[in-house]
Amino acid sequence: MDVFPFRNRICWPDSALDTGGGLGHVPAMPLVHVDLADRAYDVVVEAGLLGRTGEILADSALKSRRVAVISDETVAAFHAETLLASLASAGFRPTLHTIPAGESSKSMTAAESLCRAMIREGHDRRSLVVALGGGVVGDLAGFVAAIFYRGIPFVQIPTTIVAQVDSSVGGKTGVNVCEGKNLLGCFHQPSLVLVDPETLHTLPGREFREGFAEAIKHAAIRDAAMLDELAALDPESRDVSADLLARNIAIKARIVEADEHETKGLRALLNFGHTIGHGIEASVPYGEMLHGEAISLGLRAALFLSERHARLDPAASARVLALLEKFGLPLVLDPHIATETVMDRLARDKKFAAGAIRFVLTDAPGGAFVSADVSPADLQDAITHLRTPRNPV
Ligand code: NAD
Ligand code: GLY
Repeated sequence: MDVFPFRNRICWPDSALDTGGGLGHVPAMPLVHVDLADRAYDVVVEAGLLGRTGEILADSALKSRRVAVISDETVAAFHAETLLASLASAGFRPTLHTIPAGESSKSMTAAESLCRAMIREGHDRRSLVVALGGGVVGDLAGFVAAIFYRGIPFVQIPTTIVAQVDSSVGGKTGVNVCEGKNLLGCFHQPSLVLVDPETLHTLPGREFREGFAEAIKHAAIRDAAMLDELAALDPESRDVSADLLARNIAIKARIVEADEHETKGLRALLNFGHTIGHGIEASVPYGEMLHGEAISLGLRAALFLSERHARLDPAASARVLALLEKFGLPLVLDPHIATETVMDRLARDKKFAAGAIRFVLTDAPGGAFVSADVSPADLQDAITHLRTPRNPV
């Protein structure tokens, strides 16, 4: 269902998966349409959107008056009041459900508790879930929406860079189990995504900077010119333009449109840097290393293997590494993390479920492909490479 019938919709950029020739004009209010037949939706990016949520939802095709806002305690303390007031003033009856901040809340237990609390509050199949928070809240709230009364609509209001440029779009929802991250879940596309860059102003510096690992990944696989735009950003500020966010969202949207369920090899390109990155993330206790920090290491490993197997120019690698460094992201693996541990966690990753290693490589900034040429020995070499200091450019 296309729930948000904007009059002047702009599909931006308009050429599917073709960002190589430039991104075209930039509209005044970036709006990315995710074209998925009966699951199509819009991503609106605009400063101050949070306080207009009620008005926007009232103007949309979503008919629910009962809204379950799911957030974490930290985000709720900063932003729930604005959201709840906006919903109430537009005639909605919102309830607020919070979880403790952090990855450990992305669990089956938390999902069940949220569903039961929603039932006690009188929510039913006519209710709407609104996810207010980072990727943890978005993944969990999306999963709750997917299973509540066998599925109700949900709206994403992402408040971290990771969530704004990546996790809020694409419909991957789920929870972690002791055996691994994101192993339980399902595809459930949001009905609308509202991205308010002003919510980033309350993000701590480390959480702000880590998100750029995903934006740098987007540039590396689809949009080489964006490397320069990212290089021009001040990592200490919290100011990110709506256009830059929309440019990232459009990259993700075009890939999701082409391969929604990751069955055609295209969506797998978004895993660039994530194979070894996830292995490292799973090798330390939840919360010790932020997602983007692990992905930064994974990107360095993927660049190393791209030089080996895809003739990537080392100068191109160095450009991406310098950018990761600019955002204060790690490039050298903590010596306490054993290679065997990372290899063990890698083997449990669902990307290896079929037994074959399908590794994403880049041959030049802006281009990527899935390769079957990477062996377990290559992966070990890449992890060993992460123990060496990065040479200055
Ligand atoms: P997060 O949701 O844990 O947020 C990071 C921290 O920042 C938390 O402590 C949170 O309370 C705080 N926070 C969030 N927004 C804030 C704000 N505006 N002001 C102040 N504090 C704020 O982490 P994340 O990096 O956003 O997301 C990581 C999660 O996303 C992981 O679970 C990862 O698996 C998932 N993910 C999912 C997808 C997908 O496609 N579904 C893609 C990438 C990542
Ligand atoms: N973050 C990877 C994906 O959505 O496919």
